[in-house]
Amino acid sequence: MDRNLALEVVRVTEAAALSCARLMGRGDEKACDQAAVDAMRRAFNDLRICGTVVIGEGERDEAPMLYIGEQVGRCEKGDPEVDIALDPLEGTTLCATGGPNAISVIAIAEKGKFLHAPDTYMEKIAVGPKARGAIDLRKSPTENLRRVADALGRYVDDLTVVVLNRPRHEKLVRELRETGARVKLIGDGDVSAAIATCFEETGVDVLMGTGGAPEGVIAAAALRCVGGDFQGRLKPRNDGEVERARKMGVQDVERVFAMDELAAGDVMFAATGITTGDFLKGVRFFAGGAETQSVVMRSKSGTVRYLTSRHHFDRKPTYA
Ligand code: FBP
Repeated sequence: MDRNLALEVVRVTEAAALSCARLMGRGDEKACDQAAVDAMRRAFNDLRICGTVVIGEGERDEAPMLYIGEQVGRCEKGDPEVDIALDPLEGTTLCATGGPNAISVIAIAEKGKFLHAPDTYMEKIAVGPKARGAIDLRKSPTENLRRVADALGRYVDDLTVVVLNRPRHEKLVRELRETGARVKLIGDGDVSAAIATCFEETGVDVLMGTGGAPEGVIAAAALRCVGGDFQGRLKPRNDGEVERARKMGVQDVERVFAMDELAAGDVMFAATGITTGDFLKGVRFFAGGAETQSVVMRSKSGTVRYLTSRHHFDRKPTYA
């Protein structure tokens, strides 16, 4: 894949972020999501790729756009064939309520390199580069924290673990607190939290708990680029979801997937902040335009680029 593709892709996440950020805090989740999806879909048309959405807004019958299997991009002769994992608005409720860490994300890989994750749950653990190799979902949360603390040369009490604030995590949170670790409960947005583990300035060391499986693949793609570590195990809620997983190619639903089984090969990742969070600033509007902050990363080089972009609506009327 051409390395400049990553810099092209960021235009697409910027477009989605700019569009739904307009509706931030209005309490209308559906409108936020629609705005992000419409803008992302439009922006894809200018991208020189022949892309297939493998992680998207859902199956064709439940998503009018950016559904799994949809072809996106300019798709002219010579354009590279790639697979795409995307979430135009990761953290719909966060955007609708003005909460932190809503982002727009796209990950790109060569064909067949993303796990085709069904729309079910996934148990996850994510850490930054210094704790790479220290995690194992088959071990208890306590054991994982001990190993992460050792790898970081710190006490467990000094670790900050992010967990989605959900009733299903009651037992997990109790155990984490018993270890002495600091637990940060978040309303939504575990992709952003997983990425935050890779950037020391965020103060986030570990992400644990169960969230969306598609989001798990996206997070794994991001952490591949930064050199962090991630593991995921599907948590289907019923037989229907087990069947769906099998249909999508996951025969052993109990299996613990390593980061490079979720997102293999050459991976590119771009994300734009919608609301300000741990590692990206949200969209800030000014007279006649807006400023966005994005991150662009590639697994091959490990380069992490931050982009602050100023957009002028008189010259980009589609963003106005
Ligand atoms: P959406 O943007 O689709 O609303 O997802 C937000 C999110 O918090 C994800 O970050 C997370 O993986 C998932 O929802 C958790 O699902 P649930 O809200 O059902 O616990």
